[in-house]
Amino acid sequence: MRKKIVAGNWKMNMNLQDGIALAKELNETLTQDKPNCGVVICTPFIHLASIAQFLNQDVIGLGAENCADKEKGAYTGEVSAEMVKSTGAQYVILGHSERRGYYNETPEILKEKVLLALKNDLKVIFCIGESLEEREANKQNEVVKAELEGSVFNLSAEDFGKIIIAYEPIWAIGTGKTATSDQAEEIHAYIRSIIADKYGKQVADDTTILYGGSCKASNAPELFAKPDIDGGLIGGASLKAADFKGIIDAWK
Ligand code: 13P
Repeated sequence: MRKKIVAGNWKMNMNLQDGIALAKELNETLTQDKPNCGVVICTPFIHLASIAQFLNQDVIGLGAENCADKEKGAYTGEVSAEMVKSTGAQYVILGHSERRGYYNETPEILKEKVLLALKNDLKVIFCIGESLEEREANKQNEVVKAELEGSVFNLSAEDFGKIIIAYEPIWAIGTGKTATSDQAEEIHAYIRSIIADKYGKQVADDTTILYGGSCKASNAPELFAKPDIDGGLIGGASLKAADFKGIIDAWK
């Protein structure tokens, strides 16, 4: 049976001290009141090693928001998958629309990143999703299919099993405009169907597919009630322990 997950993506927020304080607060809260789902926090690189020291990783997983598309060497400023792993992190977000859009990450680059992450034993949260323009042209299915084909459908079934998909419509990210639960369910079911076409029903049934985009405690219960929505990838609402806990509790 696939895992239910609520993952936070802190993006470029939180200095080291504030990030540690937030992670400590979450760690205490969730150790006392155990979640009914997997919980992951994905933080800027600089936080990982410090947070890994105290995080109860049986309750909260730790991940990075990116990694390099090269193994090692003269790539000033880059952080490799091996380096991420060595901090104690177990996850990495790849393919976020902000990386694709602002940093020109192409399907080919993402394919390399995915392979390096898996080689270093990291679980990948792989993001896909259409722009407003593409949604208005009713091209969302085409877009997500091409994103999967371009970067992860080259994997073996075994490796694909280490991928968590996050469907994040770009028009819903940070805009306060959530996809309706019906809109989200429709495309999640489509995503699961193309995974089934590629890898078979068992793999598709076992794949966790998260929804992301203005997800908060008030709309999470309705989204998570849908059969093909297995949790959320949370931006803004992951930056305060109470807000994030509110979404985690949607699984209770
Ligand atoms: P918001 O929850 O702030 O809309 O961000 C979603 C997101 O991009 C998570 O990766």
